[in-house]
Amino acid sequence: MATRRSVLSGSLALAACAGAPAAPAAARPLKDMLPCPAGVCGMSGQFAEAGWRDLVVREFSQFTPEWEMKMEAILRPDGSLDFSRADVCADFAARHGLRLHGHALIWYSQGADQFAGLDKAAFGEAYDRYVLAVTSRYRGKVVSWDVVNEAVAEDGDGLRSHHWSQALGEIDHIRRAFDVAHTADPQAVLFLNDYNLENLPRKGATFLRLVETLLKAGTPVHGIGTQSHLDVEIAEGQIAGFFREAAEFGLQIHVSELDASLKSDRRLDLRPDGQRRAQQAARVTELTEAFMALPAAQRFAFTVWGARDPDSWLNRDARAGSGDEPLLFDASGAPTSMHAAVVGALPA
Ligand code: XIL
Repeated sequence: MATRRSVLSGSLALAACAGAPAAPAAARPLKDMLPCPAGVCGMSGQFAEAGWRDLVVREFSQFTPEWEMKMEAILRPDGSLDFSRADVCADFAARHGLRLHGHALIWYSQGADQFAGLDKAAFGEAYDRYVLAVTSRYRGKVVSWDVVNEAVAEDGDGLRSHHWSQALGEIDHIRRAFDVAHTADPQAVLFLNDYNLENLPRKGATFLRLVETLLKAGTPVHGIGTQSHLDVEIAEGQIAGFFREAAEFGLQIHVSELDASLKSDRRLDLRPDGQRRAQQAARVTELTEAFMALPAAQRFAFTVWGARDPDSWLNRDARAGSGDEPLLFDASGAPTSMHAAVVGALPA
């Protein structure tokens, strides 16, 4: 299949041969180059910043609130619900014609405090009430939800154990959340979302076994969300392998939180920056090609976890510091080499 890269390199080569300076490719908006919604995350505190807002509206067609639709932003300690932050995000998306993806109804890392001390019956009622209230409120506004986020154990050996699974059952708490969300909004596309599914094949396999278990039980799982926080050092083929396996279920597939850090976990990284940038380009190319190899009906959206490099959570994590370049646009809003890798992997 001719890709944009092959056509582009061909034309550049011809131009070079003719002696004409190679004209930089006119970068059309990402949303016009992808055959599915181009998604981005962000926080309401960014909405007033023209540089961020203009880039998002120009390049993207789907929005994921990075924080405001999470339980910690909505559920108060006394059990009451504060939708003010989530509403600001819903309004922003509607005002700018962005499709809205809800993230995330149930997550292991949140909710323990608010649900502490509830007996099993009260816990279950509060669980259902929360999922019902949030999903119902955004019915017709949020088209899709990460219903359960990060259910698989960090090392891929089984599922996480946490307050939700301990109170309501390892599988049952997941089935329950999907059932309630589907009842609340039968039109919403419901996703099981997780990370390291490509980086750690064992975790990807456990995740897909969970999907199979849920589907066999009749759970309304409509989509697979692979966060794709890529480890640029993984072997070639891991990403494509996961996508081939995931595609077998015939579900929608959402690249839901793409970034590809140039920083190594190792404290002292002696490798030249160029090597990691080349690894980043290779893995992001593989991911984009694997996504594009899916049947069109299964390509839900291609979402990056931040608009510009400085917006990335990876540059806000105190441990990692700043200066990482894991996204498609740099601080000035110009396309990065990672953007070129995505675009180069799209059909001409
Ligand atoms: C991250 C946000 O980007 C940060 O701003 C926040 O401090 C922590 O959560 N997987 C997920 C996302 O599903 O919700 C996380 O987002 C990144 C990992």
